Amino acid sequence: MSAPEMLRPPQDVPQPVLQVRDLSVLFPARRGGVAVRAVERLSFDIAPGQTLGLVGQSGSGKTTAGRAILQLQKADGGSVRLLGRELTTMRAGELRRMRRHMQFVQQNPYSSLHPRLTIGQVLSEPLQVHRAVPANRMRERVAELLELVNLDPAMMRRYPHEFSGGQRQRVVIARALAVNPDFLVCDEPVSALDVRTQAQIVALLQSLQERLKLSYLFIAHDLAIVREMAHRVAVMFRGRIVEMGTADQVYESPGHPYTRLLLDAVPVPDPALQRERLRRAPPDMRFLEGDGGGCIFGLDHAGAGTAEWHELAEGHGVSCRYWPQKAASAPGHI
Ligand SMILES: Nc1ncnc2c1ncn2[C@@H]1O[C@H](COP(=O)(O)OP(=O)(O)O)[C@@H](O)[C@H]1O
Ligand SMILES: [Mg+2]
Repeated sequence: MSAPEMLRPPQDVPQPVLQVRDLSVLFPARRGGVAVRAVERLSFDIAPGQTLGLVGQSGSGKTTAGRAILQLQKADGGSVRLLGRELTTMRAGELRRMRRHMQFVQQNPYSSLHPRLTIGQVLSEPLQVHRAVPANRMRERVAELLELVNLDPAMMRRYPHEFSGGQRQRVVIARALAVNPDFLVCDEPVSALDVRTQAQIVALLQSLQERLKLSYLFIAHDLAIVREMAHRVAVMFRGRIVEMGTADQVYESPGHPYTRLLLDAVPVPDPALQRERLRRAPPDMRFLEGDGGGCIFGLDHAGAGTAEWHELAEGHGVSCRYWPQKAASAPGHI
């Protein structure tokens, strides 16, 4: 079965909001360096009102994938269709108009708000750019947006430094919602926050999704949070999706050894312990520490064609050129 076929959600679902096919990003070599294939042939759909969680270690290409989907990063190939319309070949003016349908919620609420602008100015800006509301309705809409994220509308006169991290992230979310988007890329939206605030922001994103019928690409290295947020989960390793399925499928019956390794790492916040686990890992997996080959088994996929999707259950698959021969002998939980 080809990847796109495999990746289509089960039948009887409405048209996907987002369709990504074979999306690739190559960062050319800088002087003295090597080119980085940050994203390689990514394919998936996101249905209306649903969340796809994108997980993987730092450096696996998650942010680059999110930016390439939003056309903030040039792709080297592949297709991105939002609401049925191809973005990768769109002219600048048309793309600008499409931007109101797709927004970005970034990781760091400290750096993503301009310190000299009041919260009211921050929230007015996208409304002005997209001419989303007439000038005489601006204040009203800004107040509405603050209420939407459970902040006091009186806060519109204040500056970002007067806010806590959680409040700032609420403002960032309100700014993304200002233009009534259909789809948000949330890139590690709670990673910079303390655990209690994380839970509040996750709950907020969930309730907004329900109320506004939003679709999310939810990027995180924290698998516990992704489990809570995501309907479907894609596991990324060195630029590729190596496993994808419903959250239950991926978390309850992970098929790919890399997914198992990630899941095993969940309750281990201690980097020293994590390193020790990797050290004890079977030789096939030790390369995870370094810059080994292109696949989990240390074998290089480059130039060898694409890895095949192997369906484990309906809507659940793994990608590996050497499946199942190698995987059969691969370790389970370590
Ligand atoms: N602008 C860039 N130029 C060159 N290499 C980059 C650039 N941005 C990211 N990379 C590289 O691409 C890979 C994926 O990075 P990134 O998408 O940030 O991963 P993640 O978000 O999963 O941590 C990394 O090897 C990173 O060093
Ligand atoms: Mg990132």
